[in-house]
Amino acid sequence: MAEDTGMPEITELRRDVAALPGGVRDKLGRPLRDLRISVMDRCNFRCPYCMPEDVYDRKFRFLSSKQRLSFSEILRLARLLVDLRATKLRITGGEPLLRPNLADLVGDLSRLKGVEDIALTTNGVLLAQQAAALAAAGLDRVTVSLDAVDEELFRRMSGGRGRLQSVLDGISEARAAGLEPIKINAVIQRGVNDEHALELVEHFRGSGVILRLIEYMDVGTINNWDGSQTVPAEELVKRIHRVWPLRALDANYPGEVARRYAFVDGQGELGFITSVTQPFCGACNRARLSSDGRLFTCLFANEGLDLRTPMRAGAGDDTLLELIQGCWRGRADRYSELRAPQPQPGAARGKVEMYYIGG
Ligand code: GTP
Ligand code: 5AD
Ligand code: SF4
Ligand code: SF4
Repeated sequence: MAEDTGMPEITELRRDVAALPGGVRDKLGRPLRDLRISVMDRCNFRCPYCMPEDVYDRKFRFLSSKQRLSFSEILRLARLLVDLRATKLRITGGEPLLRPNLADLVGDLSRLKGVEDIALTTNGVLLAQQAAALAAAGLDRVTVSLDAVDEELFRRMSGGRGRLQSVLDGISEARAAGLEPIKINAVIQRGVNDEHALELVEHFRGSGVILRLIEYMDVGTINNWDGSQTVPAEELVKRIHRVWPLRALDANYPGEVARRYAFVDGQGELGFITSVTQPFCGACNRARLSSDGRLFTCLFANEGLDLRTPMRAGAGDDTLLELIQGCWRGRADRYSELRAPQPQPGAARGKVEMYYIGG
């Protein structure tokens, strides 16, 4: 644990991930450890910063079920990536709980030798009814996206879909099923929910659930990102510290995304995800597989490696492994570190959207 230094600064606590043994390295010496698998591009929310209702309306064409990888195709690619030493898996969407029989996939993934941790990111609306089955199938833990605990603000931020109480019930059921530690991801947007951030902190403080406040990022292009809407984590740390003193904690593992703080009064911990003001590309060991089988090596990429086409054309494991290895070896992504001093709205066209790649 870091020492209590009074007013906490956001300090560089990350260790060198390249020190880990085994697996494939990219051009910057970073290994592949974390595989995020999007199983569904659709979502039952319409968060304005991710899937604005006017774009993702009834006419919008999502992937068809044929275009999406089947569970056996996902399992095959996951096995190859685990062979390359991916040890952490995260199932994402859109909304992954919209994918029928998801627990079957979880069960198969959890039996892969070499997998140490399987988590799921969800908006929580369907979690209450699925938590027990997911846990029984081998899911280790869940992260729930929740931007507000104020009913009216929640409705606005979810695009008028879903009920806050369903999400809170989902969190309770996930706890009952042992899907812990449960984390809550809250994107903080200036002028939208920043004035309500302390309500979120108060709600989850002392509950055993770990809240993480995320800097609003210029991911994708659909949200017309504007830097003035990003609240620097430093600012939030100071605001929260004035009410509930905080002290910095070490990272749980090399390359951890969130910067951790403990409440000095023992009421648990809080995380900050500082992709805009304090990028963390140096330790980035994350690969992302879209639901139609493209492998992305950065959240801000324009293109992914199409693995579905060769797989459906009959490529063997060796060929697929070579493609994946080649892709990782050629990787030099560090988008967040390069977007200096401030990203420009609309500067990089064609970046993949968050709902498609899963966050
Ligand atoms: P743990 O395994 O619980 O530590 O998960 P995590 O914090 O790594 O994953 P999670 O998906 O919960 O990440 C939280 C948020 O951080 C995401 O929704 C993104 O907004 C952001 N994030 C995660 N990974 C990256 C990344 O590689 N780059 C950037 N820029 N942001 C990321
Ligand atoms: N900036 C930061 N986080 C985002 N998310 C979606 N869009 C953005 C953005 N522009 C978050 C969601 C969810 C996770 C999958 O990504 O709120 O927690
Ligand atoms: Fe909101 Fe997540 Fe759905 Fe995007 S994928 S609309 S952030 S719930
Ligand atoms: Fe990794 Fe790209 Fe995020 Fe940097 S911007 S941490 S390289 S996903």
